[in-house]
Amino acid sequence: MFIQNNLRVPYLLGSLSNQKYIRVYRWNPHLNKKPWFTIYPISLDYCGPMVLDALIQVKDTQDSTLAFRRSCREGICGSCAMNINGVNSLACLKSLKTSTKFITIYPLPHMYIIKDLIPDLSNFYSQYRLIKPWLINYNPQKNEFLQSKTDRLELDGLYECILCACCSASCPSYWWNHDKYLGPAILLQAYRWIVDSRDSSTQYRLDFLNHKMRLFRCHTIMNCSKACPKSLNPGKAIASIKYNIVKKL
Ligand code: SF4
Ligand code: SF4
Ligand code: FES
Repeated sequence: MFIQNNLRVPYLLGSLSNQKYIRVYRWNPHLNKKPWFTIYPISLDYCGPMVLDALIQVKDTQDSTLAFRRSCREGICGSCAMNINGVNSLACLKSLKTSTKFITIYPLPHMYIIKDLIPDLSNFYSQYRLIKPWLINYNPQKNEFLQSKTDRLELDGLYECILCACCSASCPSYWWNHDKYLGPAILLQAYRWIVDSRDSSTQYRLDFLNHKMRLFRCHTIMNCSKACPKSLNPGKAIASIKYNIVKKL
C-alpha cells in the first residue's frame, strides 16, 4: 500500500538533488478569488525532460484541477504556449534542466484568461480570419496552380509558423492595441500569402494592411522575433510588408 501511494506521487521517490518546484499561476473564474500561485514539487528522476511533462505529471498525480492546453508534444500544434521563467515558449520544447530550483509559469501575457494557463485566443483567431489565410486566384481556366522551385523558396521561414501566439503576446504594441493592431503572428501569416506566386490578390492584401493601426503600430522593437520558438522572424516579415506597400505607392 505504501509503495502504491509513492508511485502515485513520483516526486517523493527521486533524489533530493534532482528535485525541482514548479510555481504555477492559477485562476478559476468560478471561484470568487483573486489569482494565486501553487507550488508543485517534481523529481527529474521520475519525470520526462520537458516542462510540459512536469505539468502532465502534476495533473495526473498531484492536482487534477490544473488547466493547460497541449496536444502534439512535438512543437507542432502550438497549443502549449505559455510564459516560462519570463519568456514566452512552448512547454513541450522547454527543458526542465534549468540552473534554478524554481520554474515559474504564467499564461501568455496580456491575454484574457479562461482558466489557469489557458488564454482566450478568440481575438487572435478572428484577426487571422481577417487576412484571408488561403489561396485566392480567380482564374476559372485553371484548377491547378503550379509554382517554380525559386518561388516556393520564398515561403521558407513563413509557412512553418504554428500560430502559437508567443510572438504576439511578447509585443508591447499588441499588448496595448490588440483590438486594432494585427500583431506579429497574423502579419507574418499575411506576408506568407502576399509572397505566394500563385495568389492573385497581392494588391488587395497590401491595401487591407496599409492602415495605421492594423500594420503601422509595429515599431520594430523585435521582441517578436526573439520570442518565436520556431526561430522565425515576424519582425522581418512586417518590414517586408511595409516595404512592399511603399514600393507600390
Ligand atoms: S517588431 Fe513590431 S511586431 Fe515585433 S515586437 Fe516589435 S512592435 Fe511588435
Ligand atoms: S511566428 Fe513564431 S511565435 Fe509567432 S505564432 Fe508563428 S511560430 Fe509562434
Ligand atoms: S503540445 Fe503542441 S506545440 Fe507543445
